[in-house]
Amino acid sequence: MHERSSVGELADRLRAELNRYSPGEKLPSSRALVERFRVSPVTVSRALARLAAEGLLVTRPGAGAFRAAPRTGARTVGDTDWQEVALSADSSAELVPRSVDASGVLASLASPPAGVIEFNGGYLHPSLQPERAMGAALTRAGRRPGVWARPPVEGSAELREWFARGIGGAVTAADVLITAGGQSALTTALRALAPPGAPVLVESPTYPGMLAIARAAGLRPVPVPVDADGLKPALLADAFRASGARAVVCQPLFQNPTGAVLAPERRPEVLRIARDAGAFVIEDDFVRRLAHEDAGPLPPPLAAEDPDGVVVHVSSLTKATSPSFRVGALAARGPVLERLRAIQVVDTFFVPLPLQEAALELVGSPAWPRHLRAVSAELRHRRETMAGALRSGPGDLTLPHVPSGGYHLWVRLPDGTDESALVAGALRAGVAVAPGRPYFSAEPPAAQLRLSFAAVAGTGEITEGVRRLRTACEEVLRRPGTALLPAAGDGHTGPA
Ligand SMILES: Cc1ncc(COP(=O)(O)O)c(C=O)c1O
Repeated sequence: MHERSSVGELADRLRAELNRYSPGEKLPSSRALVERFRVSPVTVSRALARLAAEGLLVTRPGAGAFRAAPRTGARTVGDTDWQEVALSADSSAELVPRSVDASGVLASLASPPAGVIEFNGGYLHPSLQPERAMGAALTRAGRRPGVWARPPVEGSAELREWFARGIGGAVTAADVLITAGGQSALTTALRALAPPGAPVLVESPTYPGMLAIARAAGLRPVPVPVDADGLKPALLADAFRASGARAVVCQPLFQNPTGAVLAPERRPEVLRIARDAGAFVIEDDFVRRLAHEDAGPLPPPLAAEDPDGVVVHVSSLTKATSPSFRVGALAARGPVLERLRAIQVVDTFFVPLPLQEAALELVGSPAWPRHLRAVSAELRHRRETMAGALRSGPGDLTLPHVPSGGYHLWVRLPDGTDESALVAGALRAGVAVAPGRPYFSAEPPAAQLRLSFAAVAGTGEITEGVRRLRTACEEVLRRPGTALLPAAGDGHTGPA
């Protein structure tokens, strides 16, 4: 069992037993708990810490853990209804809706219920994260003199240099800002490039977290379809003409969710079309470090082939490390860099220096290339297992494209499938999958699912997860009138 779930289970069992002890009474020693529950000392201490944080027990170093005294005095619960008015009423004509929909972001951060296989995760399973190397990097960073000092607001010079080298072309450290991961970089870029109410072109389908950022900033996402070769240039040109947008967000490498790679002949075209429209290309290069073992040489970032400063480049270390290793970069050339810098410093000041130093320690250690090689081999193996399992069964789940990078597959469902019913059925069968709908900023052309193979424990869970998904298909698709909606018209074309 994995550490995370065993901590949760032990905490649940101890919580259930707590009322056997009177307030102030000592609980059994950690060693006794280790023996009784057959878990590690780390699991015991984390479970005790969790209960202490909930106020249920008190731990005293050297003395043990004691049941906490019950809270005295009932907590007064007032009436918070007034907040509904305060959060919405505004006498000015609002361009930016004040409610923010975080569901697209939370979907990739939530942990599924115990026993449910996580095909909807957006990050590496803890067993694939370089936990030891990150820990060692953080320790070494913590010992560096001045590590708690205020860093330059643009980020540490060495780390900016490292990101610039990774991007290549004419990009230098002076063009780079260190950010708290990709999400923060995308937020800064969108806010910098489009005022509230403005249109912004987005790939269709695309990452729901980015659509959430755009909507929270009051922008109007305008979809531009993606096929197996990435953004369709003719439609991109049309969309710029029709909307007057000044920015397009695209993921040229292993696009989320389709896995598409922008074809070589389309790369200069996308840059030229944006340049002609007087617009920026926000390049979200989010999984460059998750190319699979069989990917072959990768195309460089668009930013490396952009003499005119059209590209605002986003990259992040989280996907190859851990969602908590929130270090990323924005790179841009020309006056736009000053705008990005100003927004970033106003919003967040800077990324904590200990984390920046830890990032430098990590990427400079011999463990880093080893880790990347191991992940690249493992992701290929997982991808092949998932694709094989999906292909060896009834044809309900079709795979238009199998990418050689990233951490997920984009699966097409039979026309007219009710995605929500299938996703709910899958959860009942014990597998959490991501519905396709949130990946579209307008009506989707087909029913689809995104299945991640990175967040599960291993290939055994992948095979079992696909089996559970098939059980849900059996239940939901074959029962007439439940999951098949009336056909929404013929000629559906999948985006990938
Ligand atoms: C396409 C894409 N871009 C950016 C992000 C943001 O990732 P992070 O903020 O962890 O770097 C994600 C996360 O799922 C993503 O899928």
